[in-house]
Amino acid sequence: MMCPQTEKIQSSWPAPAKLNLFLHITGRRSDGYHELQTLFQILDWGDELRFSVNDSGRINRSCNVEGIPQEEDICVRAAHLLKNRYGVRKGVDIELIKRIPMGAGLGGGSSDAATVLVALNQLWSCGIKQQELADIGLELGADVPVFVHGHSAWAEGRGEKLQMVTLGRRYYVLVFPEISISTARVFAHPQLKRNSEPVTMSRSNLGPGRNDCEDVVLLMYPELQRLLQDLREWGQPYMSGTGSTFFLSFDDKKTAIEAASELECRYNVRAVSGVDRSALLNNLFACR
Ligand code: C5P
Repeated sequence: MMCPQTEKIQSSWPAPAKLNLFLHITGRRSDGYHELQTLFQILDWGDELRFSVNDSGRINRSCNVEGIPQEEDICVRAAHLLKNRYGVRKGVDIELIKRIPMGAGLGGGSSDAATVLVALNQLWSCGIKQQELADIGLELGADVPVFVHGHSAWAEGRGEKLQMVTLGRRYYVLVFPEISISTARVFAHPQLKRNSEPVTMSRSNLGPGRNDCEDVVLLMYPELQRLLQDLREWGQPYMSGTGSTFFLSFDDKKTAIEAASELECRYNVRAVSGVDRSALLNNLFACR
């Protein structure tokens, strides 16, 4: 990690992935969104963004993977939003190193956008308070605020009403089917369950549980049934967000690594740790 002291220095910032340990849909809103209850678990693994502030005022982005045109990239939209709203004269060159698969329910794009907001707030010396930055993030996507706050959280509303939670160290095996799922398509599905009873946060429900999007995702992609069957040999599989990532949860690291190494001959997998506090926040405070 590098702390930015002056312009032209490139600084590297993490954009961690998240899991939705459970996801309940409790209603539909008039603005087209849904009312949710979900438990966001921040992970110790994710994308990386490198920033070099420039004097030209331009926002340029390069990326290690193809298929995300600059003008559509949520990172670029986040940088423009901040620049235009706060009248920033400077520009920035952004290098995006993508590791989180897209359309995987792991919040990759949202986390990248949050990292842009948090990093540029610092590098452009905007002086925006964290809650205001999270509100700006919400304009870009429902999952952006949790990454701006940088802590595992119980979430309600569209996913922006957050209560920080302490989940402790947990270990997960993520399994990535080679399917990219559109969140909007899942939420628009006529058979989506939208009437779950709201629950109250308690110690007993601060863990993995039901995802109301799963049945619809399995209807859309019946081939995922086979994956679920294979994962059940290791425990109860859960789905994150609107898919396509499924995960297994473990109390101890050794068993998680064993499961990952067994599964990796058939699937694209990764063993990760859950963290309460995101690496983005650690980076921010290290640079202050
Ligand atoms: O906010 P974001 O761009 O991530 O959401 C993508 C789409 O998912 C929205 O356009 C909306 O159709 C759907 N969505 C929803 N309710 C939420 C979050 C997302 O209906 N709470």
